[in-house]
Amino acid sequence: MYYSDEVIDKVRDATDIVRLIGASVRLKKAGRRYVGLCPFHNEKTPSFSVDPDRQMYYCFGCHKGGNVFTFLEEHDNMTFQEAVQTLAGQAGISLPEQSYRPGEKKARDEKMQILELNKVAATWFFKELHSPEGREGLSYLRGRKLTDETIQRFGLGFAPADSSSLYNYLKERGFSDELIRMSGLMNLDELRGRMYDRFRNRVIFPILDTQNRVIGFGGRVMGDAKPKYLNSPESAVFDKSRNLYGYNVARRTRAGKLILCEGYMDVIAMHQAGFTYAVASLGTALTWQHCEIIRRFTKDVILSYDSDQAGTNAKMRAIPMLRKAGITPVILHLEPYKDPDEFIKAEGQEAFQKRLDQAENAFLFESGVMQKRFRMDDPDGAADFYDALATLIASMDDVFKRKGYIRLAAEQYGIEEADLTDRVRAKLEKGIVDDRYLSAARGGSSYNRDYRTEARPEEDSPRTAEVSRETSGVEDEGPSYEERPVPDYYEDLSTGDYYQIPRPATRRGSEGSVGDQSLEMSRRLLLSYIARYPSIAGDIKPYIGKDGYGDGLAGSVAEILYGQMEEHQKVDEAAVIARFEDTQTQAKVAELFHTMDMAANDSERVKAIRETVRKVYEASPISMEEGANEMAKAVTRKQKLNQIRMLEVHLS
Ligand code: UTP
Ligand code: MN
Repeated sequence: MYYSDEVIDKVRDATDIVRLIGASVRLKKAGRRYVGLCPFHNEKTPSFSVDPDRQMYYCFGCHKGGNVFTFLEEHDNMTFQEAVQTLAGQAGISLPEQSYRPGEKKARDEKMQILELNKVAATWFFKELHSPEGREGLSYLRGRKLTDETIQRFGLGFAPADSSSLYNYLKERGFSDELIRMSGLMNLDELRGRMYDRFRNRVIFPILDTQNRVIGFGGRVMGDAKPKYLNSPESAVFDKSRNLYGYNVARRTRAGKLILCEGYMDVIAMHQAGFTYAVASLGTALTWQHCEIIRRFTKDVILSYDSDQAGTNAKMRAIPMLRKAGITPVILHLEPYKDPDEFIKAEGQEAFQKRLDQAENAFLFESGVMQKRFRMDDPDGAADFYDALATLIASMDDVFKRKGYIRLAAEQYGIEEADLTDRVRAKLEKGIVDDRYLSAARGGSSYNRDYRTEARPEEDSPRTAEVSRETSGVEDEGPSYEERPVPDYYEDLSTGDYYQIPRPATRRGSEGSVGDQSLEMSRRLLLSYIARYPSIAGDIKPYIGKDGYGDGLAGSVAEILYGQMEEHQKVDEAAVIARFEDTQTQAKVAELFHTMDMAANDSERVKAIRETVRKVYEASPISMEEGANEMAKAVTRKQKLNQIRMLEVHLS
């Protein structure tokens, strides 16, 4: 099926891109363009730009961009065809009968065909569940107290134990090997060069998108085999980071709120008990895209992750993410039960409603968990905790909330409201409250890897496990960090930034003032980024060249590093280290190259780099600027600082 280029152009010309995007993104005119907060990633300052002349949109933050069709595909999860049809309808253009064109058909139709195949497979799983082969599955689901109506409503099914019945069935129905492979329903047996069913001996949970199309599957094994749950890999139609199980139903409920939980069974148990506004992320940790989807729907979120340690960590990670999206969740407590499914089975619907009514304020939950990480019987430990409290409060961007929480925290933890107020004010005056500190107080990085993917390998063979990790829905896992308590960080009093205390500890005496030390740290951090992404050196050249790193260790390292890049167009970290003679300095240089990068993904990383560039650049002597006099130099400085805020850096 395809529409001719002429028709497509006609529809595009007839569509006002500003109007289309403006319907869901608040846009402000800025010159010939419009700007707004990007709907594809989370941000506070607008980097999303719509250009009516070029009929394009582009986000400088997450680099998403395209035309009116792309927008509907990306934003509203439409296929290309649907986007054309929708916009043609709005513009009153009647579309010709669709026809075929070889090559074109494949690309545009792939999604539709996979969706069709998934639907056929879901129907087959459902039939299997009710056949003699599915007897065990059906009794398992009934044993978990699911009614036949629920099983029907969620379209639950069963994948028998043998390894080719679905494959054979799909072939029979005329689907090509290629399409079957693309659906993610098969594993590859590389030795024998054939495919076999991915889901075996499992009850099947079809995953539907908001248009009730089957985009993927989850399967729970019978009994205790590992892995307990297996999900479809990502495919042309299945993006885990953008889909929430149960959302197709939840978004249509009148409640106008969401319960966010961990598992398939939790969602189903809650829906069966009448809480049809429950959703779960799919075997992956909450993503920014999830938060964005939730934000568009409601501000009213009840967090209902498991009661165990992993669940607590997940809550501590989810709360700030939701908060950044403007959502302040409340925390559901289901102790002594592990999850909503178990709770409802044991205590029933009314008791569950009661717990919902008693859900805890997110701040109290967070501060409570944080407090446990400090030695409160020790004045130093307690002071660190109060300081972390102040940071937490200062990170809220509403003055009334800050005041309210200061009052609440003072009362809760028996400290003076005035003292806490002072400390919060001090944090605010210092500017940015660095998340790194908070994440340290939260227990390691708040950007922990997907704890689900990590703790629970999704696959049985190492090769496919790798693939499933790649597609786990985590944008960029970044390096992993072990849990570290706060004292590994120190606060730079002049800037309010927090740094990891370098270790091994420097033995020599003073290295200058705290401010100098902070600058030196920023320079080193920048060099560590350059070592990792050498192209940054070019991006930042107008602001920082090889002489811009001062005359400390960073300066010496910069000289060698830039020299390498000029001569060999590449970086050899080991060779840099080798240029220093004593082992202590060598260790320091090695440490420089291993500076912790706390960014959760590339767009955060870019922001961190810009911030570091700004700091390092700002410290360079103003006399170096171009300009006839002091005034002109200051203006140049200001302009350049502004440019840095939008600086494009290339992480390749
Ligand atoms: P849980 O281990 O808490 O399972 O994982 P559960 O939902 O309570 O499962 P039951 O009640 O024993 O059937 C929560 C969710 O994490 C994902 C699944 O989405 C699961 O529902 N998960 C779990 C996986 O993706 N893979 C696993 O191996 C385990
Ligand atoms: Mn469970």
